[in-house]
Amino acid sequence: MQIYLDSADRREIEKWTREGIVDGATTNPSILFKDGVFDLEQGARELARLLGDRPLSVEVTSDDPARMLAQGRSLARLAPNIVVKIPVTNARGESCLGVVHALGKEGVAVNTTAILSFNQAILAAKAGAAYVSIFAGRIADEGNDPAVVIRNVRAWLDAWGYTARIIVGSVRAVIDIQSAALAGAHIITIPPQFLPKMVDHKYTRETVAQFNRDAERALEQMSQARAVGVAASPGNR
Ligand code: E4P
Repeated sequence: MQIYLDSADRREIEKWTREGIVDGATTNPSILFKDGVFDLEQGARELARLLGDRPLSVEVTSDDPARMLAQGRSLARLAPNIVVKIPVTNARGESCLGVVHALGKEGVAVNTTAILSFNQAILAAKAGAAYVSIFAGRIADEGNDPAVVIRNVRAWLDAWGYTARIIVGSVRAVIDIQSAALAGAHIITIPPQFLPKMVDHKYTRETVAQFNRDAERALEQMSQARAVGVAASPGNR
């Protein structure tokens, strides 16, 4: 399973890449705005460079399918590791699968986003999406269980031999990450604020503190034994 950062924050991407756990990153217009990236193309180029050969998802900003297609093409040209995010429908509920299909046929890696149901996910895979982004938190907001959707989509993709990979996004709590991982997500895109919570544990701190204390005590014992040895050596008698 891979971990992406759901972020456009350079410092967070650099920090967690150094920790060796980042396989890619996802953004959307809200994330870019929150992280102070207002120039989409320049921001996308810089983040793509920062990520090296790891994929960076960048979303189209138009609500019109024809414009989405044109913008998707130009976003894809910005850097070789850019994955173009196309919502499964626009704000009016019109299908954007034709855009997914056309870009996919042109060799553009498409991440079909804002997926809230099994049916949307399987249609996106059929249309040629390389990734299907299932929004766990928003599914849960409506009183549904995202783990069930993730598990069913994964089973369907595997059963029918589709290569589309599930990205689970819209993470709201650390437990969402665990549930998505166990339900069969290929990738989970994590807002950086959850990573320190995942790695830290009160009892790990206590355990390491105990080891550190005992290592210091062992060093003290050694230096005392050396001091006694030196005092007893023939030259000091
Ligand atoms: C991921 O690709 C999405 O952009 C993101 O996780 C959406 O999360 P939200 O529901 O918190 O907006």
